[in-house]
Amino acid sequence: MTGRAVGFATRIVQWQKKHGRHDLPWQHSPDPYRVWLSEIMLQQTQVTTVKDYYRRFLERCPDLSSLAQAELDEVLALWSGLGYYSRARNLHRCAREVRDRFGGELPKTAALLETLPGIGRSTAAAIASFCFGEPVAILDANVRRVLCRAFGFGEDVASTAGQQKLWALAESLLPEKNLAENMPRYSQGLMDLGATVCVARNPRCDVCPLENRCVARLEGNPRAYPVKTRKLVRTTESMWLLWAQNPDGAIWLERRPAPGVWAGLFCMPVFPSLTELGAVVPVHDTSSRQQMPVVFHALTHKDLHLHPVRIGVTGKLLSTGEAGAWFGPGQWPDLGLPAPVRRLLTTFQ
Ligand code: ADE
Repeated sequence: MTGRAVGFATRIVQWQKKHGRHDLPWQHSPDPYRVWLSEIMLQQTQVTTVKDYYRRFLERCPDLSSLAQAELDEVLALWSGLGYYSRARNLHRCAREVRDRFGGELPKTAALLETLPGIGRSTAAAIASFCFGEPVAILDANVRRVLCRAFGFGEDVASTAGQQKLWALAESLLPEKNLAENMPRYSQGLMDLGATVCVARNPRCDVCPLENRCVARLEGNPRAYPVKTRKLVRTTESMWLLWAQNPDGAIWLERRPAPGVWAGLFCMPVFPSLTELGAVVPVHDTSSRQQMPVVFHALTHKDLHLHPVRIGVTGKLLSTGEAGAWFGPGQWPDLGLPAPVRRLLTTFQ
């Protein structure tokens, strides 16, 4: 352990005991399946949102074998609204791979966990440290912010070199004793500190266990860290959604192609312009066309402007190039739908 790291892990562990979160539904579970599921859900989603999804998911798939046996469509439907659907596809693939490669039990080391679909270095470490007390470093966005500030890490965290150094720093800080008890607390403590105290905009340095040794705090500007020189470029995309309804009230939905926005989910046919949308609608139906209010939906890199166009269709839709089908009011709610599409259908149906 280097000089600057002395006592770091101890402070985090002590702080977690007293001030960390202890009531999360996946905490203190001896079941790696549950911990894995929660970590995947938590990768890009807030705790408050995850709780309900987590409960519902476990009701349907209480263990790895039931998830491996489930249909992908059902898993996507359970994930519907959580976003980042590649997580659900990987989760399902991973369950099958664990069944086939590891006899149905998740492996017990971060190195092996990392060979599985959807489990990156940090997630593997979270599972291994929570469930097996392995001394391995996690480095999600919250933890990265804590470490960058605490140690005044001034390199660009988006660069390969910066990332390598940060991982090395994270590894140099790990607890060394009493790992079965300390590792889960340490990993959770770093996450909790990043989520509740060392937050991005208004860090609460006055209640931070690292306050008197935090470089960013001593420099007087915690928000200067982490350093990112490459800015995320946001783009805007307009999409016209053909909400075609037949005389029975069924809606035409197609599976979205991969790769792309909402890959693998069911959605109304999507067009880059109103003209292109109009081209697949039988001419005698176009008079029923009703343009709905524009829906704004933010993805990570992209702002979507959705223009739903509702049309009563009596004939056959001309081909949109994707496989689709009519889904009645008793069918579409069970499909994996993008959150804004589900909201639209539920609100205006
Ligand atoms: N984010 C990722 N993993 C988490 C966990 N175990 N608890 C709280 N937030 C998290």
